[in-house]
Amino acid sequence: MEFYRAHVLICGGTGCTSSGSQTLIDTFHEELEKNHLNKEVKIVKTGCFGLCEAGPIVIVYPEGAFYSHVKIEDVKRITEEHLLKGRIVKDLLFKEAVEEDQIRSINEVDFYKKQKRVALKNCGVINPEDIKEYIAFDGYKALGKVLTEMSREEVIDTIKKSGLRGRGGGGFPTGMKWEFTYKAKGDQKYVACNADEGDPGAFMDRSVLEGDPHAIIEAMAIAGYAVGANQGYVYVRAEYPIAVHRLQIAIDQAREYGLLGKNIFDKGFDFDVEIRLGAGAFVCGEETALLNSIEGKRGMPRPRPPFPANAGLWQKPTLLNNVETYANIPKIILNGADWFSSMGTEKSKGTKVFALGGKINNTGLVEIPMGTTLREVIYEIGGGIPNGKKFKAVQTGGPSGGCITADHLDTPIDYDNLISLGSMMGSGGMIVMDEDNCMVDIARFFLDFTVDESCGKCPPCRIGTKRMLEILNKITSGKGEMEDIDKLEQLAKNIKASALCGLGQTAPNPVLSTLRYFRHEYEAHVKEKRCPAGVCRELLAYTIDPEICKKCGICASKCPADCITGVKGKEVFKIDTDKCIKCGNCMEVCPFKAISKK
Ligand SMILES: Cc1cc2nc3c(=O)[nH]c(=O)nc-3n(C[C@H](O)[C@H](O)[C@H](O)COP(=O)(O)O)c2cc1C
Ligand code: SF4
Ligand code: SF4
Ligand code: SF4
Ligand code: FES
Repeated sequence: MEFYRAHVLICGGTGCTSSGSQTLIDTFHEELEKNHLNKEVKIVKTGCFGLCEAGPIVIVYPEGAFYSHVKIEDVKRITEEHLLKGRIVKDLLFKEAVEEDQIRSINEVDFYKKQKRVALKNCGVINPEDIKEYIAFDGYKALGKVLTEMSREEVIDTIKKSGLRGRGGGGFPTGMKWEFTYKAKGDQKYVACNADEGDPGAFMDRSVLEGDPHAIIEAMAIAGYAVGANQGYVYVRAEYPIAVHRLQIAIDQAREYGLLGKNIFDKGFDFDVEIRLGAGAFVCGEETALLNSIEGKRGMPRPRPPFPANAGLWQKPTLLNNVETYANIPKIILNGADWFSSMGTEKSKGTKVFALGGKINNTGLVEIPMGTTLREVIYEIGGGIPNGKKFKAVQTGGPSGGCITADHLDTPIDYDNLISLGSMMGSGGMIVMDEDNCMVDIARFFLDFTVDESCGKCPPCRIGTKRMLEILNKITSGKGEMEDIDKLEQLAKNIKASALCGLGQTAPNPVLSTLRYFRHEYEAHVKEKRCPAGVCRELLAYTIDPEICKKCGICASKCPADCITGVKGKEVFKIDTDKCIKCGNCMEVCPFKAISKK
């Protein structure tokens, strides 16, 4: 094996790829060549490091120097200064990586300090397109262990004892699901992986597939052995081209190494995996709709029972787990159930990956032990709210979840705590909101999404959510009446109780949780015809403060409705509110911040 004196890890996740990391990689290769360093320095294209906000990211080892927002023109400096002369280029380091002239390595940066990487262990560490790197990091060791040392019952028992619960949203105990499938009668069984990830704002599963695809293949093979299946399917959305590409490379390599296919580890165990592409319908993430979709049918949910464990793909017993759930499996097998259950809270063990987004300084991917508080995630890991704004709420669980307020920031994150607050863990979307977010508008946004994504099979969801959206539109446009709020609440409760699948059963959650904590905002829209956060367009009035206006006339020149009048240099400008179409241009262009909306 070649020895390199330095490793340059460059993020090849979707975020950094879209901000140009592939060109950086090519340029690094050119610069190393020019400086005759290519035999001494190795370039590794990895998966996501987590701090996507700071991308493209380059980390140079052995120092762990953490360069952020790296541009093509910086490559020359990093090569000549750091790689050739051994001098870290301080001004290119992530801002927190330099402290009073001290250089902090990646692990000392606040964003990473409170994290614990289990599912994401190899993401941003190995080259996901090289099976040898995965193997060097204990890859396929867990599969070897179960096939050579453990009975099927022992594997299931280990997963049960670990306390792992499904990370796809429902939080069902994984070991129990494996046991049901194992005990189900059938000559043919299947294992499936749900990589549909339809929640707006979520990209945890994509990152695992992009950064560590072998972990999923290994876990599915372990599951196949445990439940008695010889075929696995990964259902992944076609909008994830990098994930699909790397997964296919990993499957091909695993086959080549005899880690998929016939007689794996010479133990008479046959197992193979195929990819099935989804077209990006949120409902296809629902487990029974996903099974229909894999079978080539329209992705509509089936009534349950029977559950997939008994009648799944082609009516055969099928084990279905989420990507992150699988990513934990090899680590549990290698480190033991007790190790896993030592992390987390009483009923939620291990760690959870969240996609942190919205009004937060460090947007990106974080993995924390269950029981970490929302405050720790938002302020210590996420770096707080930008521009000195006030925290208002955090939305967890995507369209199936709800909003949590500042009063609950010290809540330890786990399945049950989030549900008791009227939200849910979901698959791990976490969107932070500040004083400029209107909570009625947020509820409307999520409902708009579910109305679009409803498959239409059952009336409560097909018709009910549409009626709810109409009421919300009425309220946000200033035409709401007080009885609309009651109607909204009643409809929400009825839909929850009567929809066929999880999509409809949870669709009202964003409305119910915002009604629970922010009812006053609904009332302000209805009674005062006012949007307190200044978001709902039809309720806004733009005005010019005559005390501040400098009579420059810029606003009038940019107004598409010609509704600003005044004489340049002579009189303050005025807006004719009746003609204003509320585009916001004037406020944006006024150099003196004389224009406000309320
Ligand atoms: C509308 C809807 C969408 C869902 N989308 C996903 C998804 O994208 N990924 C996922 O793993 N689970 C999703 N689920 C949950 C799955 O139905 C299922 O519970 C999960 O894949 C089981 O795996 P787990 O036990 O490992 O969590 C969705 C559920 C519903 C109702
Ligand atoms: S609840 Fe909605 S998505 Fe689910 S089956 Fe009914 S119509 Fe389809
Ligand atoms: S751009 Fe601002 S300062 Fe200039 S005329 Fe308009 S309101 Fe007054
Ligand atoms: S909001 Fe748009 S339409 Fe209204 S006054 Fe300003 S620029 Fe003109
Ligand atoms: S995609 Fe590069 S850090 Fe996330």
